[in-house]
This record gives sequence, structure tokens and C-alpha cells, in this order.
Amino acid sequence: MTLRVITDLEDSIFRNKRVLVRVDFNVKIDNGAVGEDYRIRMTIPTIEYLTKRGARVLLCSHLGRPSAPTPQFSLAPVASRLSEILAGSKVRFVEDCIGDKVMNVASEGQPGDVLLLENLRFYKEEEANDPTFCESLASLADIYVNDAFSTSHRKHSSTYGAVRLFNTRLAGLNLNREIEYLSMIKENPDRPFSLVIGGIKIKDKIGALENLLPKADKLLVGGGAAYTFLKAKGVKIGKSLVDYDHLPWVTRALSEFGDKILLPTDHLVAASRDNNFTTLVAGDIPDGMAGFDIGNETVHRYSLEIGGTGKGTVFWNGPMGLFEVGAFSNGTTNVAKSMALAFWRGSKTLIGGGDTLEAMKRAGVTESEVSHVSTGGGATLRFLADDGMPGISVLEQR
Ligand code: 3PG
Repeated sequence: MTLRVITDLEDSIFRNKRVLVRVDFNVKIDNGAVGEDYRIRMTIPTIEYLTKRGARVLLCSHLGRPSAPTPQFSLAPVASRLSEILAGSKVRFVEDCIGDKVMNVASEGQPGDVLLLENLRFYKEEEANDPTFCESLASLADIYVNDAFSTSHRKHSSTYGAVRLFNTRLAGLNLNREIEYLSMIKENPDRPFSLVIGGIKIKDKIGALENLLPKADKLLVGGGAAYTFLKAKGVKIGKSLVDYDHLPWVTRALSEFGDKILLPTDHLVAASRDNNFTTLVAGDIPDGMAGFDIGNETVHRYSLEIGGTGKGTVFWNGPMGLFEVGAFSNGTTNVAKSMALAFWRGSKTLIGGGDTLEAMKRAGVTESEVSHVSTGGGATLRFLADDGMPGISVLEQR
């Protein structure tokens, strides 16, 4: 089975063809303005490769997890950002992602034009991989390209069902860049191989951690995820966030791999996220308080572990606390700085996920101080864990 990349085909194949490109423009939008746009920038080489060969490019993406069409989840602001970056191409936006309206707008364009479709998740059929929706999507174009590595762990219409209806289905340049780098890490990581996992959603990460923990040498847990681990260990966590559904898994992981798992031993706590009165506590968190950042002792231990020797591979996904709030950003800032130190000392460093990249930049660490900035968070973990990526396997053809 082979995966074909857009560069494997003759240039003439794309001339005047409608090419549906699945991108991941799931970026932060505040008051109609796009925030961190790394995911957008990383798709530019693919878009320009196609437009320069005379393709009519139709970009489709999801944004957030809306339960119904809502202006807040519209991709319209992304079209404005794209127009600024893609100065050489005309970028248009259409307020739907399937149907006659999209077809009409698409056929009005010229070869080399770019059309961004509205949020795929305005239809629940996208996530349901609904056959009729898949047909509607596939009928829009002649060729399919996946450049959304960060969504390739999802078996949705635009990443899986619709793809099977195309004879020509290809990997974009960003997808290929991710596969090449991450395959190298997956197959033969420099040792020690450490995972630094934070953020609040452990649900998406558990399947991957199950496969990754046996291969990794260390797992450093911070952020919201840490309190589920601490709860499983019997530490008092006050009213900190706990993922009760996954407590049994965490308990098993601790008993099997406890010697590799590092947990916070002190915390910055407050009565609520908006409360300015913060306290540093070691061990148990008092009732009525919640942990919002790792404490100084933990910061010190994690920083030594990450930046220490300049050997091995470190993958970081998920902030260590509520980094958006200045009072709770210390742990995340120090982890970001230790990642940079590890890189400068010679470790292979990887970061993944939009929040993690934003946190890293807030800490003053640049993209060039990381060996590989992945567009994926959960997807990157899944790929490293060899946990199945439907959006990639569906591209492979005999
Ligand atoms: C991500 O942000 O990890 C991707 O865009 C996938 O989004 P999802 O977790 O909502 O499917």
C-alpha cells in the first residue's frame, strides 16, 4: 500500500481540476480575529503548490465542536487571514460546505483561485461519517487532498467516508512532513524518551498513552490531567478537576508504570480561576480550593528532567496549568523554557497542539527552538502510539 503525495503526480493532472483539500483550520478566534495561525501557515505550501498548477482549490475544515451553526464558529475570519497570507491568489468564502450554493460559487472561479467552505461541523453528519453527506462532499471535486494531519485520527466524512469516493486521493505537504518526522520518532526515538502531558482533556489522550507508556521512559503529568492521577493515588485534591470516567484507567496505569510516572508534589491553588488570592501548597489540596498550576518544587523537578542532559527525545502536549491567567502561568512558562534548553543542548524536542504552541510563544520560546512543531495534539499522540489514523490509511492505495 502506498501513500501518494501531491508532488508524486504530473503537474498537468491538476490543471483546471477542482481539488478538495481537507485542512485543519481549528484555530483560536477572538472577537472575529484569528489568534495563533500556525495551522494555517503550515497549509500554505500545499495550497500554493496546487494553485500554481492551475487547480481550483476548495478548502474544507472544522472549527471547534459546535452543536449547531453559530456565527462564533464560522470560518469567515480564517478566509480574511488567508487572503492576507496568499497575496497571489484570490480567496473567496462560501457560507456552506455542500450543495448547489457551493457548486455555483466554485464554478464561478478561475483556475488558481481558492475557495474556503464554511465549518463542516455545522452538519452533524460530518462527525457521523454519514454516507449521503460524504457523497455531497465528494461531488464537489475531482481530486482529494488531506493536509489536516491534526484531524487524521478522526473517522469523519471529510477525513474518511468522502475520501473513499475519490479515485485520486493524495497527501498534502504538511501531512507528509508530519508523517516523515513523527515516523522517525515512533520507530527509533533517542533515549530517554519522555512525554510531558498536561491540559484538561485526558479522554483523547488515554488510548494513545496506553500504547505509549510501555515505550516511553518517563511520563511527566501536569495541568488538569494531574489531578485525576493524584486522586487515583489517594492524594486530596480539593475541588480540582477530575475525569472520573478515566479514573480506573489511571489507577491501572499507576500500578503498572508508576515508576515512570512523575506527578506534581506542590500546587498553586485558589478558590476559583478568577480569584486573585493564590496559595502554594505541598501535598494535599485543602477542601474548597482547586489547583491551577504546578508549584515551585514541581517546576524545578520537571525542568531538570526536561532540560537536564540534552540527550534523548521529549514530546510535550498540553499546558501545566491555566496559563492564560498570568498568576497561573509559571509552570507552563518554565516547561516551555526547559524545552528550549533541551533543544539547545541537543535533545530532539517535539511539541503538539494549538494551546501548547500558544503557551510556548507566550513564554518567549520561538518555533525555531523546537525540533518539530506538530500541528496535531491528540493526533500526534495517536500517531506516535501507532493507534490507527483513519485519515491517513484511507489515502493508501494499491
Ligand atoms: C485538534 O484541535 O486537535 C483538531 O483540530 C481535532 O479537533 P477535535 O478534537 O475537535 O476533533
